Amino acid sequence: MSNSESRKLAELAKRRGFFLPSNEIYGGAAGFYTYGPEGAALKRHLEDAWRDRFTVKEGNQEIEAPTIMPEAVFEASGHLDTFDDMLVECAECGASHRADHLIEDNTKIEDAEALEITDVEELIREHELVCPACGAALADEPVSDFNLMFETTIGPGSGQSGYMRPETAQGIFVEFPQLAEYARNQLPFGVTQIGPAYRNEISPRRGVIRVREFTQAELELFINPERNGPDLSQVADVELTLYPIENQREEGSEYVEKTVREAVEDGTIASDWVAYYLGIAQGWYERVGVDMDRFRFRQHLPGERAHYASDCWDAESELGGDWVEIAGFAYRGDYDLSKHAEYSGQEFTVFEPYDEPITAERATVDPDMSYLGPEFASKAGEIADALETLAERDRAAFEGETVAVEIEDGAYEIPTEKTGFSVEEVTESGEHITPHVIEPSFGVGRTLYTLVAHAYGEDEVEGEERTYLSLAPEMAPTTVGVFPLMDRDGLGDRAREIAGELREAGLEVAYDDSGNIGRRYRRQDEVGTPFCVTVDYESQENETVTLRERDSTAQIRVPTADLTELLTDFRNGVRSFDEVRGGYEELSESPANPAE
Ligand code: GLY
Repeated sequence: MSNSESRKLAELAKRRGFFLPSNEIYGGAAGFYTYGPEGAALKRHLEDAWRDRFTVKEGNQEIEAPTIMPEAVFEASGHLDTFDDMLVECAECGASHRADHLIEDNTKIEDAEALEITDVEELIREHELVCPACGAALADEPVSDFNLMFETTIGPGSGQSGYMRPETAQGIFVEFPQLAEYARNQLPFGVTQIGPAYRNEISPRRGVIRVREFTQAELELFINPERNGPDLSQVADVELTLYPIENQREEGSEYVEKTVREAVEDGTIASDWVAYYLGIAQGWYERVGVDMDRFRFRQHLPGERAHYASDCWDAESELGGDWVEIAGFAYRGDYDLSKHAEYSGQEFTVFEPYDEPITAERATVDPDMSYLGPEFASKAGEIADALETLAERDRAAFEGETVAVEIEDGAYEIPTEKTGFSVEEVTESGEHITPHVIEPSFGVGRTLYTLVAHAYGEDEVEGEERTYLSLAPEMAPTTVGVFPLMDRDGLGDRAREIAGELREAGLEVAYDDSGNIGRRYRRQDEVGTPFCVTVDYESQENETVTLRERDSTAQIRVPTADLTELLTDFRNGVRSFDEVRGGYEELSESPANPAE
């Protein structure tokens, strides 16, 4: 991200209460941010819009799971083993760095995360890379795997080992057996969660972009891959900007512009569910105000994929010249549910009825344990299991006098009559399957930062420079600023009354009677308030107010009685200012402030 853009945004964000580094009175700790009043409101609106689109409109269910989970969860999920980044420490100054980032920042290699540790060490030597903090050579420093989870102890004493969840998803997967019950065991069904996740990043950077505590909005959709497909007609004609693996590998290759239908038909996107969610997400990003000229979907290179994903596309936004991941759309297959089934011993399946009951022959065994026990002692159980597997796989093996089975420590001959082998006709009405998972996973903080960065503008109004955020009315922390021209002659009382009525109607209102009108407009422009209402002397004569729109600075005179409905419609996207302005008297300049 260009330094000047990120500096300007960081300055505005702190000064006006969007976000600021936390705990600075005690020196702070890198990677933690506090959302101020404006940022917290923007984040709330963003989460509400996500909930509306990905939970409510998709017919999914939202849950809220704990953020600390016992170690067993992450043994099963694979995070304990594989959720690592490559760490290199400077022997001179002690600074820690992500070794793959050092390579990417200083060579032409773009996917260093996929390299082996030994290759990374070699590249550090070959390119004579130095510590970015102090300039000391890193050539002889070892690179190691650093697990990104924050470990904690549950309970007093040595307690039970636990971890802050590195993704909200695991809180959904571990409760799958119960969640499937709530969904009446009907696939497909989706479960969402919005909440904090934690990663002990080696070197947090770029402000709120890479932090150690962040908010995710995740949807886990459980499907039967043989039967459940998305309703692609909803998104078939949505135009996507795609950056598939092949294009990333070709020097100077361009993005591909395709509709969702084309991308599915020609196989650019392998999973139709992933394609469906890219289409839904694209509409949602437009709604919340991401600049679509600074946006793309990029397919993960194989070495970049998380351990659970068989395919993944990221939504990326352009921020000051860099592309930043703001969401991931992963096909997780049955990885998570199978692992939790294996490690917990619980059922993670759903019974899927066949359209018609199926009658088939099934070969089974019923080994005579009074023979196997004395004959094979501790091996008897293993041999019985091997006989069962063999019967399912190869009935012919039971045609002779004896049956040959192999277990771990060797081959054994079992008299066929002791195996209890039989072939039965069974009628089955369905089968138990382990559902597959499609996961759209959004970073809320990164999306929020994108909205602020893409909304940032500077221009000149009435001879004065102004900074403004052209946030979508639905997202803006405040919908309307209400000002009396001056707080006297009853203007302040009337403006406070109007502010109260608008708040009563559920709108977020900033009341401001200090400073000249121009300055009050600038204050609201800078935090992205899309509308301002001014009560002036004419208001007292004919019960009208001026209504100003932020981006155009156009002003119209509207009856006070119309205000609530107009502003509510603007915020909800039912009507826009441009659509209504022709129906009202347009003013050519701001109301004059008698004090000026
Ligand atoms: N659940 C996906 C992620 O955390 O990246």
